[in-house]
Amino acid sequence: MARILVAYYSRTGNTEKMARAVAEGAKDAGADVDLKRVEDVEPDDLKSADGIVIGSPTYYGLMSAEVKQLFDRSAKVRGKLENKIGAAFTSSASIEGGNQTTLLSIIQAMMIHGMVVAGDPMETGGHYGAIAIGSPDDNSLRTCRKLGERVAMLAEKICR
Ligand SMILES: Cc1cc2nc3c(=O)[nH]c(=O)nc-3n(C[C@H](O)[C@H](O)[C@H](O)COP(=O)(O)O)c2cc1C
Repeated sequence: MARILVAYYSRTGNTEKMARAVAEGAKDAGADVDLKRVEDVEPDDLKSADGIVIGSPTYYGLMSAEVKQLFDRSAKVRGKLENKIGAAFTSSASIEGGNQTTLLSIIQAMMIHGMVVAGDPMETGGHYGAIAIGSPDDNSLRTCRKLGERVAMLAEKICR
């Protein structure tokens, strides 16, 4: 059974709702899922997961400082996250408010760790990960569930 870590930061609850949907999708796909706020994630939690999905609100078109801090702390496990499956999700206030650049900022850090980032096979929804504008609507939640399912499926295939 693939182990998936869904880690998120959320100040007003929007990204948290997305995180729950990602976790639900991964669970439905048969994965063993851990859902945590980034502040509670230890670098060893990253090491023990097969797939890592990280969510952040869009802050100035980038991941929040709290999410960046997790990546900074993850230097401790540099070289140990190679070949794990990675994916990202974000909530922004406006449709052109930098949500895709936020996803890319998360994915960029994952690539520096040598992780394998899950691309979008058309049916998932977002090119670079799942996006919601403000509080996630049904479509955004569906995209989040599909992202969780896809990461679980890839982690099972590649990492187990
Ligand atoms: C410090 C800060 C910076 C933000 N920067 C952006 C931004 O660049 N673009 C945008 O669309 N929304 C921006 N927002 C709005 C949040 O991304 C948005 O409200 C999001 O839904 C909050 O997610 P949360 O409920 O998980 O905290 C910003 C909010 C804060 C507090």
